[in-house]
Amino acid sequence: MPLTIVIGTQWGDEGKGRIVDVLSAEAQLIARYSGGDNAGHTVTVGKDIFKLHQIPSGIIHAHTVSVLGNGMVINPNTLTAEIELLSQKGILVSPQRLAISHAAHLITPMHRLLDQAQDEARGASKIGTTGRGIGPAYVDKAARRGLRAQDILDPVVFREKLMAHVQEVRRQLQLFFGSDVTDEQSLIEEYTAKAMSLAPYICDTGALVRDYLSKGMHVLAEGAQGTLLDLDQGTYPYVTSSCTTAAGVFSGLGIGVQPVGRVVGITKAFQTRVGSGPFPTELLDETAGRLRGSGANPWDEFGTTTGRPRRVGWLDGVLLRYAVAINGVSELALTKLDILSGFSAIKVCAAYRVEGKEYDFLPGGLQARQMQTYQPVYEELPGWEGDIRSVRRWEDLPSQAQQYVRRIAQIAGVPVRTISVGPEREQVIYLA
Ligand code: IMP
Repeated sequence: MPLTIVIGTQWGDEGKGRIVDVLSAEAQLIARYSGGDNAGHTVTVGKDIFKLHQIPSGIIHAHTVSVLGNGMVINPNTLTAEIELLSQKGILVSPQRLAISHAAHLITPMHRLLDQAQDEARGASKIGTTGRGIGPAYVDKAARRGLRAQDILDPVVFREKLMAHVQEVRRQLQLFFGSDVTDEQSLIEEYTAKAMSLAPYICDTGALVRDYLSKGMHVLAEGAQGTLLDLDQGTYPYVTSSCTTAAGVFSGLGIGVQPVGRVVGITKAFQTRVGSGPFPTELLDETAGRLRGSGANPWDEFGTTTGRPRRVGWLDGVLLRYAVAINGVSELALTKLDILSGFSAIKVCAAYRVEGKEYDFLPGGLQARQMQTYQPVYEELPGWEGDIRSVRRWEDLPSQAQQYVRRIAQIAGVPVRTISVGPEREQVIYLA
């Protein structure tokens, strides 16, 4: 079957960009279907580090076409900057290589201001959004007053809708948050110019993806964020505002379910989260510091989009099993196994204890309040010494690392087919 879906099984930052880059070698079209520039996908190719926020990581392979699907919210200011950055690194982004759905919604600078003001006003219960305007842009979409990419194609309509939107948000900022917009005119002019420059990329991407699929060409759907940040299936209200799971692929790209072949669940070898919300296996001791890293390396656990230090903890197998079920994951790609080298013991949570009873599932669902009562029950596995970053074959991994991977597959109920042991393209172990 020609469609491969790649999704994150945790709270985002699982290393999807890196695995999409690897899988793109075999794909003709790579499509993002949800979210916006809240995402941050890092891909290392030789000395070059690409940090992509909206364009799929597959763009780095010259033979591919990239699609920004209708389920996305797109920021013309940051998208044009991303296109520029890629061309500076020798990657040509032309309308032949990048297609933007006419039905994708647009994020404006006003959405950003509103997002930041709203989250700040939440005080202690703030979500810790990326401040990129994601929530307000999806609110406008649901309220049927959003700006769509297709509006760019009619400058008069675009101007009218943009001005009405600016006035509306301005009123809200003044009324509810006592703030205002400075330099409104130049903000509008700059935004309009950037948006208009995207016109040649806008088309019916649903028809394009369906055409590729009907010809049997290999399409890769690239998820953003992770399962536990899904608006419906995640740790609500500490979630993003889009459908991040495999289900979002179909409505977010405009395709049917038949072509699905593989659903690859990207899973970091430990757990991380940025922003607020429940995190049963979170560590606050010196182990956390070791897992997170100092920030000196590009792979350390600091946000690609915001630079915030990520919260870290041991792998949560209960949540992983949930993610496998929600997405119909057929195989796992395990990332950052190398980071666990040198620990004398490695823990994995396979059950929760709630009021003295043990559960290997979510006894009260994924609701933020119930999750505060979940105490992780850990299994302790032996760690391994030495550097595994140069290992390329399963049989060359230390037996303790093999044992850890086998246990994860057992808990998840699906095989681990790919293991990454470093940020470079070739630092990957493939399993039969
Ligand atoms: P928003 O998507 O900016 O509205 O943020 C909502 C929540 O999702 C916050 O906790 C963010 O930190 C989190 N989030 C959004 N995008 C990402 C991502 O790409 N990786 C990890 N967390 C994310």
